[in-house]
Amino acid sequence: MDRLADIARLMIVSDLDHTMVDHHDSEDLSLLRFNALWESNYRDNSLLVFSTGRSPTLYKELRKEKPMLTPDITIMSVGTEITYGNSMVPDDGWVKILNQKWDRNIVSEETSKFTELSLQSETEQRPHKVSFYVQKDKAQDIMKALSARLEERGLDVKIIYSGGQDLDILPQGAGKGQALAYLLKKFKSDDKLPENTLVCGDSGNDAELFSIPDVHGVMVSNAQEELLQWHAANAKDNPIIIHATERCAAGIIQAIGHFNLGPNTSPRDVTDLSDSKMDNFDPGYEVVKLYLFYERWRRGEVDHSELYLAKLKAVCSGSGIFVHPSGVEQLLRDCVDSLKPCYGDKHGKQFRVWVDQVLPVKISSDSWLVKFKKWEQSGEPLPSI
Ligand code: GLC
Ligand code: MG
Repeated sequence: MDRLADIARLMIVSDLDHTMVDHHDSEDLSLLRFNALWESNYRDNSLLVFSTGRSPTLYKELRKEKPMLTPDITIMSVGTEITYGNSMVPDDGWVKILNQKWDRNIVSEETSKFTELSLQSETEQRPHKVSFYVQKDKAQDIMKALSARLEERGLDVKIIYSGGQDLDILPQGAGKGQALAYLLKKFKSDDKLPENTLVCGDSGNDAELFSIPDVHGVMVSNAQEELLQWHAANAKDNPIIIHATERCAAGIIQAIGHFNLGPNTSPRDVTDLSDSKMDNFDPGYEVVKLYLFYERWRRGEVDHSELYLAKLKAVCSGSGIFVHPSGVEQLLRDCVDSLKPCYGDKHGKQFRVWVDQVLPVKISSDSWLVKFKKWEQSGEPLPSI
């Protein structure tokens, strides 16, 4: 992980399902609010870590379904797989640690004797994770019996129950908390320990995250009973863990504010986007704002006034250019002009725009090169071919 030359201001380690991603928010508004906050204020000085129970296969599916950012580090399969960067380079050192006292075949053999356990899909069975479904009322007894049985067979495993239905069996040294501890240790040995870390979760497999010393924690308002019970029994006196009153990503934003970890106003919550911070110019912030304006203009949510476009053109330098991935270059001011005929063309549609990996580089005393990915969701079915 060498994207950041400096120490990260904030490292967010967040679960995905029902924490970063709200499956009951069909417009994904809280996720989009978080995205705009992250890209405008944190992307170039902080670290985003996703820590999910999903296997790489299901994680990639979620990324296709939801407007998610690209994390700096991805921890999958309940802390058993750690990868870095865009190209998801695996951490082989972590794999070696997990091989200790672990034998998947013995786990399969012993679990097959429990008829109450039903195996999850093939994609969710991983080298260091065996996963089942089990009914809530049977979970505690099964976990006890199973752990005694596996111990007798010489294994040292961890059994985790999540979401009132999922039972995961992992090596003892695995899990979301251990994976985070491993990362923190690595950062520390490089003298790169983040200034602050915030862990975010909603269910049983997130509990360990809240037991790592010195990290702030937020259990989102919609957290599962099993996590709240764990917290009441193990961590209720820890003042740097809160139970948010807001759901999912909105709860994460709430925690950033509560613990004073940095800016906590998402540009999506700002109605007047025309305030140009020229005295304290921040190119990442400007890019986020530009695309928010573009979304609102096409949705017809701002007045149909050419004044906005004139203001936008005024802040664009005459020589500023936009370089399309195809290589075609266009003057920024011409790009603004091309917005004119699009006003309101997405009115009443689920049209959303978000930017990802906004990374500015200063190339001379008064110019910046900002690279970013821009995504659009049109809310319209794709044309059939
Ligand atoms: C995700 C995984 C599943 C796991 C659950 C709880 O849903 O896909 O395999 O059991 O998280 O950790
Ligand atoms: Mg979750």
